[in-house]
Amino acid sequence: TFIVGENCIKCKYTDCVEVCPVDCFYEGPNFLVIHPDECIDCALCEPECPAEAIFSEDELPDNQQVYLELNAELAEVWPNITEKKDSLPDAEEWDGVKDKLQYLER
Ligand code: SF4
Ligand code: F3S
Repeated sequence: TFIVGENCIKCKYTDCVEVCPVDCFYEGPNFLVIHPDECIDCALCEPECPAEAIFSEDELPDNQQVYLELNAELAEVWPNITEKKDSLPDAEEWDGVKDKLQYLER
């Protein structure tokens, strides 16, 4: 599966959802997740993210392993998103900021 990692938080560019052939992205207030049981590992979304927040499970950095569980958990409760929308207003300023997990809204 592919995983949305930390740098999506407070950016949420949503370019990723446009290319997913199985529409397996789910949207929270300031983060998106991928449903691990629905993702078909096509890899199309990974290069589309301007924040480089998407990883294949195998390449998820060691310090972002918590996002495996977060994607699985939140994909069960958040609504599906299939069309691109505006990024969050301060996306450019938040792109690359460290330790954004504390800002995750559920
Ligand atoms: Fe969708 Fe493919 Fe990305 Fe999985 S890897 S979330 S199927 S675009
Ligand atoms: Fe997030 Fe990147 Fe998609 S910032 S919403 S994973 S395009």
